[in-house]
Amino acid sequence: QFGDTIKVFHRNYPTDMFTNVTPSVLSKLGENLHKKQCNPLNLIRQRIADFFYKHYVTRAGNPIFSIYDNISPVVTLEQNFDSLLVPKDHVSRSLSDSYYINMEYMLRAHTSAHQSDLIKSGLDSFLVIGDVYRRDAIDSTHYPVFHQAEGVRLFNQFQLFSDVRDPTDLKLFENGVKTDDKQADLTFDATKLLEFSLKKTLQDLTVFLFGQDLEMKWVEAYFPFTHPSWELEIKYQGQWMEMLGCGIMEQKILKDAGAGDKVGWAFGLGLERLAMKLYSIPDIRLFWSNDIGFTSQFDVDDAATPVTYKPVSNFPHCINDISFWVPEGFQSNDFYDLVRTVGGDLIEQVNHTDDFIHPKTNRRSHCYRIMYRHMEKTLTQAEVNDLHQRISEMAKSTLGVEIR
Ligand code: PHE
Repeated sequence: QFGDTIKVFHRNYPTDMFTNVTPSVLSKLGENLHKKQCNPLNLIRQRIADFFYKHYVTRAGNPIFSIYDNISPVVTLEQNFDSLLVPKDHVSRSLSDSYYINMEYMLRAHTSAHQSDLIKSGLDSFLVIGDVYRRDAIDSTHYPVFHQAEGVRLFNQFQLFSDVRDPTDLKLFENGVKTDDKQADLTFDATKLLEFSLKKTLQDLTVFLFGQDLEMKWVEAYFPFTHPSWELEIKYQGQWMEMLGCGIMEQKILKDAGAGDKVGWAFGLGLERLAMKLYSIPDIRLFWSNDIGFTSQFDVDDAATPVTYKPVSNFPHCINDISFWVPEGFQSNDFYDLVRTVGGDLIEQVNHTDDFIHPKTNRRSHCYRIMYRHMEKTLTQAEVNDLHQRISEMAKSTLGVEIR
C-alpha cells in the first residue's frame, strides 16, 4: 500500500509497485548457513577457501585471493544489474524472477552484484560467498534462497604474460571487432590465456573437492557480464547438472570500475549443488534443517573429512491437487511463493500439471500438484488437508484466483 514501509535488517524501506519480498523469504536473511556450525554449506565454504588460500599465493607466500563472506544481501538494482551491463529488458529483471524490496533495492540474485564495488575498492583477486535470492519453481533442487561463491581475478599485462618467454610483442588490448570467441578490445592472445587460467582454476577446484573420477564438461554459455562465457556441468545421479557459470569479464565493467588497464575472469558457483553432490544430500530443504539427525552428520573438526549423508528415515509424502481460474497477468511464481509462505519446508514439490483455456468463456485455468512431506515425521492427512485448505484460501484472497 502507498506510504507503507517494510523492515529489512533493522532498516525501513518505503514499499512501491515493485515490492514482492515475502515474509518467509525475509525470515531467511541473516541465517547465513554458510557460516553456521554443522552445516554442509559451511564445510563447502571452508573447502573452497582452503583451495584458494593454499594454491594461490604470491612469491612472498601471501594469499592472492581475499574472501568476503559477510556482505549484506540487500543491494541496489544498480549493483545487481546495471553495474554488470544487464540490459534493461533482460528477463532476470522481471518481477516474477527476482525479489524486490522496492524500485531501488532488492535481494541480490547473484554474488556478481559485488564485483564492481570490490574492484573499485582496489582489489584484484577476491571471492564473495553469500546467500542469494531468486523466485523459481519448487522441487528438490530449487529453493528461493541458495548460496553462491563468486570468484574474480584480474591481471595486468605483466601478470598475464608472466609465463611467456618473450612477452614484449604480446598485448592485452586492440581495437578489433567482437566475435563469438572474443571481445572487441581484448586481443586473441589475452583472451586465450584468460580462458586457460579460468578453466584450469575451476577444474583444479573441482578435482580438489571431488577427486579425479568425476564426470564434467564445459558448455558454451551467455552472460551479459562476460564474453566469452561457459558453464561447467557435472554428472549428478546420472544427469548433467549445471554447477557454475563463468567467463572473461566484459572490459567495460573493468573500465567503469577504474581498472581499465587490467583484464580478468569471473565465475559464480552454486554451493548447494556442490554440497548435494559431494555429501549425497537428496533435497535442498535439508540445508535449513535444525534436526540433530541432520546436523550431527556434519559435525566434523576438519572440513575435509568425507561425509556421506544417510537419511534418518524417509517419511511418506502426501499429494494434493489444486485447480483454479486465474486472473489476467497471473504468474506461476506468485503461486509458488504463496505455497512456500503457507507451507514452509513441508512443501517438497509443486508441479504445474495443467493449463487450459475454456473454449466458450476464454478463461484460463491452472492446475498444480502439491507434494507435501515432513523431513522428520509422518504428516497426517488432517495436517495436509488443513495446509491445503489454507493455501487455497490465501490464493483466493491474495492472488484473485477462483478455485474450481
Ligand atoms: N552470476 C552468474 C549466475 O548467477 C554466474 C556467473 C558469475 C557467470 C560470474 C559469469 C561470471 O548465474
